[in-house]
Amino acid sequence: MKILITGGSGYIGSHICVELLTLGFKIIVADNLINSHVKALHNVSEITNINLNFDLNIDDYFTFIKTDICDKNSLEKIFASHHIDAVIHLAGLKSVKESVTNPEKYHLNNVDGSINLFNVMAQFNCKTIIFSSSATVYGSSVEMPISENSPLCPTNPYGENKKTIEDVLKNLYNLDNSWHIAILRFFNPIGAHKSGLIGECPVDIPNNLMPYIMKVASGELNVLNIFGDDYNTHDGTGIRDYIHVDDLASGHIKALNVIREKSQLIIVNLGTGTGYSVFDVVRAVEKVSNQKIIYQVSKRREGDVDISYSDPSYAKEVLKWEAKYNLEAMCYDSWNYKLKN
Ligand code: WQD
Repeated sequence: MKILITGGSGYIGSHICVELLTLGFKIIVADNLINSHVKALHNVSEITNINLNFDLNIDDYFTFIKTDICDKNSLEKIFASHHIDAVIHLAGLKSVKESVTNPEKYHLNNVDGSINLFNVMAQFNCKTIIFSSSATVYGSSVEMPISENSPLCPTNPYGENKKTIEDVLKNLYNLDNSWHIAILRFFNPIGAHKSGLIGECPVDIPNNLMPYIMKVASGELNVLNIFGDDYNTHDGTGIRDYIHVDDLASGHIKALNVIREKSQLIIVNLGTGTGYSVFDVVRAVEKVSNQKIIYQVSKRREGDVDISYSDPSYAKEVLKWEAKYNLEAMCYDSWNYKLKN
């Protein structure tokens, strides 16, 4: 089976590449490298001991083609050169903060780019796709825990992009129910592969909590700004459902095995079902790193919700999947990656 992974050199994509190659799938990675490095794919190659090929005309196990999903011709070239059995679609801009200041850029890249991809897939009769959506489609004011039937009310352009792409896939399936579609709503991915060779390495000052804490623990940044300690939570700081990136990757494999069986459209939360506060994460990182995390409480960040954590029961039912790693293990793997990079 040959899988096309868009955004496959990114944080989540590289971990999915390891899982797929280890299971014997042939994969083609299409990525524009706007927010990742080819180095991650060389490290995937080292972990799996499978050579990385750069020539689209070679039928190999692991091929990388620099591709932008907005470029129809380059996508057509991939589908014309290889019989693609399924697509795992991760490519997209993902900074909530940047999406607020530049919504047009986000709509063009994320929504128009995805529609471009879906059209080329249909053109080549490839109708099996896993789409990486996000818990940000739920937005605020939803009951906890969040289930797949919770209302969708995204509060930023990034979350709106994800919801719009979900709607496009739902319409696609309503018009042609020979498609095999899984929409996976990630909660908060953290952690790294046990080898420490791949992990989260933002290209500039991190927006997300874990990569920021890692830079404070390693001394690259002096202090963690905790965005508010007056939320309606046990310690006043924001609660999130952190999930190990390898748990996310295995969830994708399970979803692929389910949707390849028959045409369907499934929507599944990928979370642990447990929420941790910012202070919980700080303490866990201090324990695994033996480093003191200096912090200061600052004002709330625009758009943040008090609490967000999933009800993972549907994932267990439909994918026969559940997250394995706890918070300490996730922090340990993040720190192990940081120490090696
Ligand atoms: C987590 C908690 C912050 C940084 C984001 C985006 C989106 C999604 C998941 C893909 C919150 C607090 C953070 C800091 C802090 N990814 N915090 N100081 O906002 O829940 O979701 O990641 O879909 O990218 O929606 O994650 O890691 O930014 O914040 O106090 O320097 O940490 O207030 O409570 P978030 P996050």
